[in-house]
Formats: sequence, structure tokens, C-alpha cells
Amino acid sequence: MKPDLMDKVIIITGAGSGIGRASSLLFAKEGAKIIVANRREEKGNETVELVKDAGGEAFFIQCDVSNEENVKNLIDKTIKKYGRLDGAFNNAGIVGIRKSIIELNSKEFDEVIRTNLFGTFLLVKYQVQQMLKQKSKGSIVNITSVAGLLGRPGRSPYNSSRSGIIALTRTAAIEYIKNGIRINCLAPGVVKTDLFQTSTDGGKTNKIKEYEDAHPIGRVAEPEEVAESALWLLSDKSSFVVGHTLVVDGGYTIL
Ligand SMILES: NC(=O)c1ccc[n+]([C@@H]2O[C@H](COP(=O)([O-])OP(=O)(O)OC[C@H]3O[C@@H](n4cnc5c(N)ncnc54)[C@H](O)[C@@H]3O)[C@@H](O)[C@H]2O)c1
Repeated sequence: MKPDLMDKVIIITGAGSGIGRASSLLFAKEGAKIIVANRREEKGNETVELVKDAGGEAFFIQCDVSNEENVKNLIDKTIKKYGRLDGAFNNAGIVGIRKSIIELNSKEFDEVIRTNLFGTFLLVKYQVQQMLKQKSKGSIVNITSVAGLLGRPGRSPYNSSRSGIIALTRTAAIEYIKNGIRINCLAPGVVKTDLFQTSTDGGKTNKIKEYEDAHPIGRVAEPEEVAESALWLLSDKSSFVVGHTLVVDGGYTIL
């Protein structure tokens, strides 16, 4: 059977760790040429080496997704290297500080919105622009979170950014589906990554058990399980799925 992403050129942001790294390895195994986009060069290059060691193809481009010039450069360098762009997994993101609304200052709120929501806007804008120029089909997957579907005290910047990504995805999907560009998003529950280590105090408190109990499945996700769902959304196997939010949460949102 033909691999799901054979010869497709795919950008993955935040590919230096966690879900982005697991996705780089999986998509490369499925035949994609991976553009590893990351702010931190060292971590990005580590992912490139891991992909190559596993027999895949990957190329690092440094990119801060909240910086417009960096995002334009990401697309330009991708085109210089491979001549086209077939898809993207816009996965980079931060959680930000946990504070109530009246305690938060503007800078703290803005930082999370700039990376998660504004960054996703920039990526979608320049990726779609390139796909339109190529007159080719494309598939874009944005990461959101169950946090985008729920309210949580102390999490207004993160949750607002995640809800915004769902709305942005739906809007972009309607604007460009007639051009053959499918845009969807993925909403994971809690996933075992660096980000999880930070929000669980590195396992020093009882937080891990708390998170596990919040998922009816009784555990949190492995990054590879999220990567599998992103792969499906990116590939032609989900060809009739448009503007959808795929919830991958072990039942978190149905409890
Ligand atoms: N881990 C979870 O429980 C969970 C749940 C739902 C959604 N998410 C989302 O999944 C995505 C991946 O997170 P993860 O869990 O793998 O954590 P992670 O911290 O391992 O990965 C996030 C990556 O994004 C990169 N990044 C952050 N800001 C950036 C910027 N401005 N420009 C470029 N890269 C930047 C980081 O360097 C890092 O490589 C994030 O957007 C996160 O919010 C995570």
C-alpha cells in the first residue's frame, strides 16, 4: 500500500520536541519530506537527525511563528529547497502563565495570543498564499486543544487562543476549500510532553494523577497518538473533512 504522505512537502512547526517531533518521525515514515520549523535551532536539528537516522528526509528552518518576517522566510526557504508546499501541521505553541483575569497584565495575555493565535494566522496566510500560487491542492492542520472548548480558571490567555484557532480554522476552511485546500484542527487532551512536565511540576506533586483521572480512559496521551490523528487529517484519507475540530482526548470532554 502507498504510504499516506508519499513525496509530500510538509511543514511542521514546533517540531523540536513533543508532538511536533513525534509527527516529524511519523510523517517521514509515511513518505513526506519534512520541514522542521522551530525557534530553538539545537532542538530542531536534533529532530532532523532523528528523522534521518530512521531513513527519512528532513530539513531545519529556524522560525518564530509570531514573527511575520520569520514566517515569510519559512515559506521562501521551503520553496527554494523543494519547489512546492503540500501541507502543514501548525503545532508550535505555549501555555503561558496561570493567573486570574484581574491578575494578568496585558503583556502576559498578549504573549500567548501572539504565539498561538496570531502565529497560526500568519502561518495559514502564507501557506495558503503559496498553495494558491502553485494552483495545487493542500492540507493544513492547526493545533488547538480541549482548552479551546472549555473554560478553566487561570487559563484565559491559553483557552482564548485555542478557541480563536478553532474559529480561524473554520473561517479559513470556508474561504479556501473551493481552491482544494482543506484546513482542519486537532484538539488533544493532555499529552505526555515537556509542556506536560512543566504543568505537572515535573511529577513532584499529585498533579499527574489528577490529569490521568480527568480522562475517562485513565491516562494521558502519548505524543505518537496525537501524531497519528494529525497524519489522518493531513492525508487524503480525510478527503471529505473540512473545517473540523478533531477531538483526541481519551474522553476528557465527555466527562
Ligand atoms: N501537551 C499537552 O498536553 C497539549 C495538549 C493540547 C495541545 N497542546 C499543544 O500542542 C502543541 C505542541 O505541544 P507539546 O505538548 O508537544 O509541547 P512542547 O513544549 O514539547 O512543544 C511546543 C513546541 O513549540 C515550540 N514553540 C513555542 N513557541 C514557538 C514560537 N513562537 N515559534 C516557533 N516554535 C515555538 C517550542 O520550541 C516547542 O518545540 C502546542 O501548541 C501545545 O499548546 C499540547
